[in-house]
Amino acid sequence: MSTPLSTTSYTLIDGKKASEAIKEKVAADVVAFKAQGGKTPHLAAIIVGSDGASETYVGNKVRTCEAIGFKSTLVRFPSEISEAELLQKVEDINNDPDIDGLIVQLPLPAHISVEKVTSKIKPEKDVDGFHPVNIGRMNKGLPAFISATPYGILLLLDFYNIPTKGKHCVVVGRSHIVGSPISILMAQDTKVGNCTVTICHRHTADLPAITKQADILIVATGRPGMITGDMVKDGVVVIDVGITRVADATKKSGFAIKGDVDFDSVAPKSSYITPVPGGVGLMTIASLMKNTLSSAKKEIFSS
Ligand code: GUN
Repeated sequence: MSTPLSTTSYTLIDGKKASEAIKEKVAADVVAFKAQGGKTPHLAAIIVGSDGASETYVGNKVRTCEAIGFKSTLVRFPSEISEAELLQKVEDINNDPDIDGLIVQLPLPAHISVEKVTSKIKPEKDVDGFHPVNIGRMNKGLPAFISATPYGILLLLDFYNIPTKGKHCVVVGRSHIVGSPISILMAQDTKVGNCTVTICHRHTADLPAITKQADILIVATGRPGMITGDMVKDGVVVIDVGITRVADATKKSGFAIKGDVDFDSVAPKSSYITPVPGGVGLMTIASLMKNTLSSAKKEIFSS
């Protein structure tokens, strides 16, 4: 039986602090790598159309590259671009020896197949970790590019030295981008792993009966506030992946960012909890930068 963690007060998991520390380490590693004759890591990003959130995410990725000593290339296409043209651009970047990592920002317009595009990216440059080869390698426990959000969750748990071995990790949500990979990773025989994992989804019967068993609860559903205090046990570690824009007239932007966890009722019962915003979301760029550096160093596909 696992023992519950402290129940008296909770620690707020600070994604800003963790991500800044990781980015500083990556920046120092770039300097050391180059001093040994290594190349400048180079990330290329493709954005199609002008979705507001995508613009913000890609802008942040490009700025972070500059801040930590990477090169970046931003390729913009109008939303009318054909699938064939986009695939050709991916192929060109696949063949560009200076570019180490390529991301195609999602969502894409409806006439373009996400599956075709992500599968076209050379696995060796797939720093988003969406290519079936990287997903398969991750499943087998081989070196792989792990996508930004699950990798960010592992890095956060590690940064706070949160024990995972033998714990019951309940994952709510089974998406290909978060729920599915994090449930596999948390069960693997790794430092941040060795959990007993339960995956819940919209057809799960009696969700609260299961979430109440969680030592570690990871929620990635995109349903704001769906996990409430009565659904968790004392001492739970809560990782909230939700980042939904909810209309809020009191904000200058007109919206607020809401997590999947009702923070006010869940936090008092938790031992550790991520805020939204300021938690997992900030880790995703740090993860991407770590992957891009690994790609420049050829660390993943050498084995
Ligand atoms: N859109 C939302 N999250 C992501 C991500 O991690 N990568 C890409 N390429 N697009 C996204």
